Amino acid sequence: MTNPVITALDVSDREAMRALIKKLAPYGGVFKLGLEMFVGFGPEVVKEVIGGGGKVMLDLKLHDIPNTVKKAAKNAGILGAELLTVHASGGSAMLKAAVEGVKEAGSKTKVLAVTVLTSIDEETLQNELGVTKSVLEQVKSLAMLAKESGVDGVVCSPKEITAIRECCGQNFLIVTPGIRPKGSAVGDQKRIKTPAEAINDGANYIVVGRPITEASDPAVAMENILKEIENR
Ligand code: C5P
Repeated sequence: MTNPVITALDVSDREAMRALIKKLAPYGGVFKLGLEMFVGFGPEVVKEVIGGGGKVMLDLKLHDIPNTVKKAAKNAGILGAELLTVHASGGSAMLKAAVEGVKEAGSKTKVLAVTVLTSIDEETLQNELGVTKSVLEQVKSLAMLAKESGVDGVVCSPKEITAIRECCGQNFLIVTPGIRPKGSAVGDQKRIKTPAEAINDGANYIVVGRPITEASDPAVAMENILKEIENR
């Protein structure tokens, strides 16, 4: 089984990051680097994770004019990211540009689109952003736009997996955070699923942060998640 766990490396201390990579890279999963680390440590951090034997999901959520996104995506490809995120709401020209950018880099970087941020509720979507659809309908239409634009998949909330799998078919990556293994602290996550539930619903990858990074032994936490998925 390829490891479907993407470990969110939300750590501000570079030594702590190195220790996590050393412990977890042997499991073959992907490490998610977000804006905080990318801006704080610089693009070198991507090379450092890859140099340590890890694969990288570069969660930059790009959203700009197509030409700028194309060039940024090309640079992400050159850095060697396995996965790169962009905002689906940038529209089809921007999404196509992101796909072209990674191709131009000659990399196998897969582009993932973020649909509606889970921090945005129906009221914000409709009253502030002027979208008349419900959150789920907007998520579905942006996921379909991403697919039609040649994007490889989406990042979505666990509760949206089934609907997206239905409208976008099997040949589309679904990556979901908001995962809590059985018995782990929920923290600030509101709508959670267990690793087994998310994979059963149709996710290809699950993003797990604190249940791994804050465990007394992150390697044991990773092993337990993999067992939970295998025995589901
Ligand atoms: O520690 P935890 O497992 O909650 O970390 C989940 C990771 O996924 C964090 O990096 C968080 O920013 C990200 N994420 C999320 N929910 C979303 C989108 C991203 O938890 N809707």
